[in-house]
Amino acid sequence: MLAGNWKMNKTPSEAQLFANTLVNALAGFNSFDIYIAPVFVALDRVREVVSSSNIKLAAQNMYYEDSGAFTGEVSPKMLKELGVQAVIIGHSERRRIFGETDELINKKIKKALAEGLTPIFCIGETLEERQKGLTFCVLEKQVREGLYGLNTDDVKKVVIAYEPVWAIGTGVVATPEQAQEAHEFVRALLAKIYDEEVAQSVTILYGGSVTPENFFGLFVKPDIDGALVGGASLKESFVELAKIMASVLG
Ligand code: PGA
Repeated sequence: MLAGNWKMNKTPSEAQLFANTLVNALAGFNSFDIYIAPVFVALDRVREVVSSSNIKLAAQNMYYEDSGAFTGEVSPKMLKELGVQAVIIGHSERRRIFGETDELINKKIKKALAEGLTPIFCIGETLEERQKGLTFCVLEKQVREGLYGLNTDDVKKVVIAYEPVWAIGTGVVATPEQAQEAHEFVRALLAKIYDEEVAQSVTILYGGSVTPENFFGLFVKPDIDGALVGGASLKESFVELAKIMASVLG
């Protein structure tokens, strides 16, 4: 899976225009899933552009209730009506800037699954945590609490995105070895909590300063199943990433 997280970038008309560029440039890439996640207010217009293409629509966030007094929030039912098929949950910016906890993230993941949306569940350690040798400990807590209460069938539908916080938007990408080590740890943890079949079937994406220059080395690693891309998804470089995936997948 190649997923573009546009974050708080592009107005609805800019998003529509760029989606149109992508529809043309990415036509024919069918060996993996391609998602783009524009801002909420651009979803409707982007949907019009991508609806008959191989590009699928993701949202950057959602709330776990259907409707009601939750000012500023958006429900999965609302997203589904706009053609959204996946939703990014627990992005480090949501955790850090908007105070999202593992418990809240768990509720959102459960709700997304109940509504038939694919959760793209983000985890990752800060630089300080890595320097203190806490990376695996942090990842284990995030995975256990984020997936708490999910059965085997449900967890297979979750996409996990390992995004070390120190690599997001910094230009400092994890080395393929660092990323592979973390992905391998997460997969082994899934085997421990669930079973080997679950561990092998869960898609684990890498995210954090992915560019066409560094992506090949990451994507050839055995436990890296794709990327969640921020900055490089806002430009033509997203197409380059798709080309790299296609070349590796053959
Ligand atoms: P970046 O963001 O590619 O700009 O580092 C990745 C993400 O936050 O998903």
